[in-house]
Amino acid sequence: MQFSLVSGDAAPVSGELLVIPLFEGELVGDAAPAPLATADSALDGKLRAAATQEGFKAKVDQSFLLHTLGRLGNERVLLLGLGNRARFQPEVLRLAAGRAAKTAQRLKVTSIAFRVPATDRAEDVVRAVVEGLELGVYRFDKYKSAAREDKGSPKLKSATLALPPGSEKSRALDDALNLGLKVAEAVNWARDLVNEPPNVVTPVRLAQAAQQAAKEAGLQAEIGGRKEIERLNMGMFLGVTVGSAQEPRLIHLVYTPKNAKDAKRAPLALVGKAITFDSGGLSLKPTEGMVEMKTDMAGSAAVLAAMKVIGGVVKPPFPVHAFIGACENMPSGTAYKPGDILTARSGKTVEITNTDAEGRLVLGDMLTWAGEHEPSAIIDLATLTGACMVALGNYIVGAFGDDDATVNSVLDAAKSAGEEMWRLPISDMQKDALRSDVADMKNSGERWGGAINAALFLKEFVGDIPWVHLDIAGPSNSPKERGYLNKGATGSGARTLVELVRRRAADVATQPEPKAEPVKAAKRAKAKTAR
Ligand code: BES
Ligand code: MN
Ligand code: ZN
Repeated sequence: MQFSLVSGDAAPVSGELLVIPLFEGELVGDAAPAPLATADSALDGKLRAAATQEGFKAKVDQSFLLHTLGRLGNERVLLLGLGNRARFQPEVLRLAAGRAAKTAQRLKVTSIAFRVPATDRAEDVVRAVVEGLELGVYRFDKYKSAAREDKGSPKLKSATLALPPGSEKSRALDDALNLGLKVAEAVNWARDLVNEPPNVVTPVRLAQAAQQAAKEAGLQAEIGGRKEIERLNMGMFLGVTVGSAQEPRLIHLVYTPKNAKDAKRAPLALVGKAITFDSGGLSLKPTEGMVEMKTDMAGSAAVLAAMKVIGGVVKPPFPVHAFIGACENMPSGTAYKPGDILTARSGKTVEITNTDAEGRLVLGDMLTWAGEHEPSAIIDLATLTGACMVALGNYIVGAFGDDDATVNSVLDAAKSAGEEMWRLPISDMQKDALRSDVADMKNSGERWGGAINAALFLKEFVGDIPWVHLDIAGPSNSPKERGYLNKGATGSGARTLVELVRRRAADVATQPEPKAEPVKAAKRAKAKTAR
């Protein structure tokens, strides 16, 4: 979609659909913002009258659509509710802009004019509008014959964002617009990867997508096959992949800053779960649960999407690595079995008690591998447990980790990106759940505290590195259309990762000298205090 920014005067803005977001109380009396007052007087005061009559009060989720019958440069006007101004967050506007985009699509409108509301956060608000619109126009209909025949049909193509009265265009606002567009495009790209069926997005195809992303964003890409996985002694990853006829792929993307000094800083490591289909293996899933399991690579899609923006736009002054182990989890004559004992890359042995707890096995080896690159922190994204969905539902990510500062920095980034996350504990009280009689641990414990048990398992492969585990089993898929979300893949987590990297980049900028081997130093300090 094409976006342009125009300065904030009351002049008409071209676009078939004029969108005016409003806070509660702004519809009536003198509180009306200038763009609403202008549109209303062109319609002889009938816009506000009709909206009032229809019960529109600018509450969150409310909207009101009116045809202007040629009285305005825009064919239709859409009022969007933003709710209480005191409770405003850019996410409210992102969701509202998403609804506007969906309305425009239904009306077969190709251009819209969007009146950016006046707030004290112009950059965040412009970015939220751009993201909401671009995410909102997303559709996944390439396998519908009707949609294919309909190819020539209009799709929302351009949006003109009119700044609030009195505010001028600026470099900062252009940057905010561009970042929002790049983030939303990357999220839509991730959504495509997740929505594509599992016979299309195989581990090999996922690796190709990673390679393409790397090429676009100037990243280095190393892709390995079964041989490489064997060479690296990733016994848990191998265990999961042996039942599948699809070749596994080991994916390593690296962003390196141009400045040689920056390139020497400790990297940030991102790890994403990439089970392109999770049948459960021999511990087979029931049919109802299985049909959604193409989603089981959503963590890696979000990591790849974030890498696109990190390399292409954010370009932080420290390296960022992505580690992804892609494979299927299938039942077959060669599949791993309950009772098998696997040896992890770290040397730990794991008794398999449930082949459906496969994600933690692949991720465990990925975390070990990531840790060997001495990162400043590791963030993993995984559709890991149904238990986390039971706890937090379809829209909230579960966040785990022992390092308060790092966990809080992720939660803060999520808040600012408009993704809801909630910290859950990793308590040693649950540790008995993973105790095995025959090996160092078992891969699946008792049912209670299932999301915590999975996080505890991962923790065994992290060591002392600051680490945050994000369980996105719920939010990776939306059960219905909501705001800028469609039913289906959401791209959950990508926006938070981008925001986190931006924040860490800003932190580095205030303390420019890279310390020698910061992780080793931190490890030594931690070891000292532990003794
Ligand atoms: N991929 C699933 C988790 C999942 C469930 C993702 C629902 C998205 C939606 C994971 O591999 C799994 O099967 N987890 C098991 C763990 C259990 C066997 C310990 C689960 O949650 O039931
Ligand atoms: Mn599973
Ligand atoms: Zn899984």
